[in-house]
Formats: sequence, structure tokens, C-alpha cells
Amino acid sequence: MSLLRKKTIEQSIADTDEPEYQLKKRLTALDLTVFGIGVIIGAGIFTLTGRAAQAYAGPGIALSFVFAAICCGLAALCYAEFSSTVPVSGSAYTFSYFSLGEVFAWIIGWDLLLELMLGASVVAQGWSTYAALFLEQIGLSWPESIGPDSSVNVLAMLLVLVLAVLATIGIKESLRVNLALVAVKLFVVLFVIIAGLFYIKASNLSPFIPPGVPAADGDATIHTPLIQWITGAPSTFGVMGLISGASLVFFAFIGFDVVATTAEEAKNPQRDLPRGIIGSLAICTVLYVAVCIVITGMVKYTDISGEAALAEAFRSVGKPGFATLISAGAVAGLTTVVLTLMIGAARVVFAMSRDHLVPAKLGRTHPKFGTPYRLTIGIGVVVALVAGLTPIGKLEEMVNIGTLAAFTLVSIAVPLLRKRRPDIKRSFKVPGNPVVPLLAALICIYLMLNLSLETWIRFIIWMALGFVIYAVYGYRRSRVGHTERTGESTKA
Ligand code: ALA
Repeated sequence: MSLLRKKTIEQSIADTDEPEYQLKKRLTALDLTVFGIGVIIGAGIFTLTGRAAQAYAGPGIALSFVFAAICCGLAALCYAEFSSTVPVSGSAYTFSYFSLGEVFAWIIGWDLLLELMLGASVVAQGWSTYAALFLEQIGLSWPESIGPDSSVNVLAMLLVLVLAVLATIGIKESLRVNLALVAVKLFVVLFVIIAGLFYIKASNLSPFIPPGVPAADGDATIHTPLIQWITGAPSTFGVMGLISGASLVFFAFIGFDVVATTAEEAKNPQRDLPRGIIGSLAICTVLYVAVCIVITGMVKYTDISGEAALAEAFRSVGKPGFATLISAGAVAGLTTVVLTLMIGAARVVFAMSRDHLVPAKLGRTHPKFGTPYRLTIGIGVVVALVAGLTPIGKLEEMVNIGTLAAFTLVSIAVPLLRKRRPDIKRSFKVPGNPVVPLLAALICIYLMLNLSLETWIRFIIWMALGFVIYAVYGYRRSRVGHTERTGESTKA
């Protein structure tokens, strides 16, 4: 028996025909693009922009976004190749099962859960801040946190539970709500760009890349990027600051990969998945760069708000009404992010349960709704508890490292699978293989090195926990392992 046991591509596709695990195929290219934009534009642009500009990059934060977009664009090509070739739920988890082997698939699945569930919790908390702010602005005061010692974030918990019910009722229904909220969000982002143009002061944008701040001896702390520990090069401002900024604002792009988790629900996945993934990423990149230039042009980066940069920029130029509108847009915008991240998480665990790496019963789909209802509700409860009861505050970096690790493995898997299975039909191919996928992997690793030592320590603990669960449960129960041992294939 081997740790690198693999599933065949044919088996992965055949699994999707099991009646109890069938998802409805209803999504079009437009649905997928909207789904992508719905999950991409969120806390990253609404809150992180200010923090990253102030701490790392100054007005050059626009370039940090470009750098993060290049990394995501290259990874997106790899995702598009896999998801159009093997349109099976579970995204990177499924791709790595047949290209790298079971243990890697488990690691990636575990990373994806970190990305999607922790991401949903972090964004739900951000949502509650904006929601409380918005309610206050319209004269309805609601304490963001109530309960003993004000430690229960009721708003965040309510949001997550309502969205979990919505996601259970049906993906198409979720997307309908998504469409309306995405429209509001896009309107607000365009509004920021157009209205903000009139308040840009050229002096705020200069110097565009503030000179690097040299690191003093003994400066490095647990919050310092790992790369500064290794090379001693300072990571505040200057070119290195741009890169540190990119590793933080990478969060703003997270989500395009979630489009791939819904592969089985697409009507014409071969054509539409690459369109949905690359299209949503391209639109968001253009919007982000424009927002960054406008915001850092309106407010000097040293004075920019670390919490609500977009709304505060308008308040600082004497436009509080615009700030209220932007808060409303953020509430709508962050809602779709939480919804989509939770749907993505349910689809990843769904794929794992079909392979028996987690209990198979969990993955059964609902006879009427056609969604994995037990998982969706279960994930909703966990996310609600984390968002409502824990001080996760600023764990975006933790979400980033999990996602970057998954991107790295998916990128490496592309040339490996091309070599091993040149015969399968690929309706979308990454150009310039193997250089482009390997470059994608290297850039992801480089961004990971720019995350803090603290994030690395937490990530290593998370991975160790994942290995223990795999050793104790998944390795023994795996469906592929069972077939390998007995020669018999089991029902999912
Ligand atoms: N990209 C998503 C956001 O910025 C996760 O909220």
C-alpha cells in the first residue's frame, strides 16, 4: 500500500454519476463569472488596502495588487486547465488526487478548508463591523458584540446561519441573491473610483514608492516576514515593501479558485470554467488598481484608515453621505463573499466524503434541493461559532498561506499530469508549459516567504493536525485504499 496512491481521472469523473452524490448542472459562464466576482471583491479591498498601504507599500500598494494579480493569474491558468479537463467538484483537492496522490490531495483539501472556512469567518467579522457602522449611520444603534464581556459577535453569527440555510436550499437560488448583491457591490466600487477621481491630490501620490526603512538590529519579531528573518532585508516600504504588501493583499483575490469547486454544477464546464475563472479575476484586478490609486490619491498613506479605508477617505474630504453609501455597499459585498466561501468549503468536504477521507454519510445530497445539506449546515455552524466567539480579527495572512500552498501544489501538478497522461483531452491548456506553471509555483512560494513568522508557525501546527487526522482516519477508510487492498471497488 502506498502513501501516494492515486485515483484515476476516469474514476473521478465516474464518481460524479453516483445517484446519492449528484449535484445539479445548472450554471452558465455568466453565473460563474458573477459567482467569481461575488467571492473575490470583499474584505480585501474594503479593509486591507489601507492597512497594507500604511504598513508596507504607501501609494505603491497599487503595484502590490498588480504583483498579487500576476501570481493569481498564473495560478488561475492552472486551475482553468484542470477544471476544464476534469469537471469534478472539489477543485484543487480533486486535481491533486489523480495527479499527485492521496496524501497530497488530503493536504490540499485541508489547506482549502483553512482558506474557505477561516476566510468566511474573518470576512463575517469584517461584515459585522460594517453592518454595525451602517446601522449607526442610519440611526439604528446595534451593539456589534453582545453577551457576557461583549464577547459574542451576534451579527456575524446571524449572518453566517442565514447564509448557510440559503446555501442549503440551492446553489441557483444562492446565485440569484448573489447576483443582486454583486450588482450593488460593483456599483459601489465604481462609485468610489469615479467620485474619488475629483479628490485626488498629486502630492499624496508622491513618493509613489516610499524609500525602504532599514531594519535595525534585533528588529525582527514574530510579526516580521519570514524572508526578513532569512535575508535580513527590510520589508517596510521600498521594493521589498511592495512584495510584503502583495502577500497581504493577496487576500483580496482569494476566491477565483472557488469557481473551480463548483465544476460539477456547470452546464458546459469545458468552455465556461476557464471563462469564469479568468474573466472574474481580470475584472477585479482592473477595479482594484483603480481603487488603490484613487484612495491613496485622496488621503496621504500615513493617514489612511486601517479599518475602513474607502469609507473614511470620503469622510476625510467632507463627504459623510458617500461614506454611508460605501458602508452599505461593503455590507452587501461582504455578504456574497461569506456565502460563496461557505459553498466552496461544503463542496471540498463533499468531494472528500465521496472518497471516504471523511465520513461518507456527511456528503449525501438532499433529494429535493440537490445540495450536500448536512455538510452545508455543519460548516455553517462551525463558521458561525468561530466568527461569533473567537478573536480571529486579523487572520487574513493565515488564509493567504493556506491558499498559496494549495496554488503551489496545483501549479506543480500541471506539468506532472501532462507528462503522465498526455492522452486526455484538455479543452483549455496553460500556455508555455512547463515554464509558466513552475513560475506560478515559484511566485506563490515567494509570497509565502513574505508572510510573518507567526503565520508560518500557525500554518505548521494546522498542517500537523491535518496529518494526524489523515493517519488516524482517512488513510484507513479511503475508498481508493480499500480498492487497493481488496481489489473491490466500494460504493461512494
Ligand atoms: N477575496 C475575498 C475578500 O477580499 C476573500 O474578502
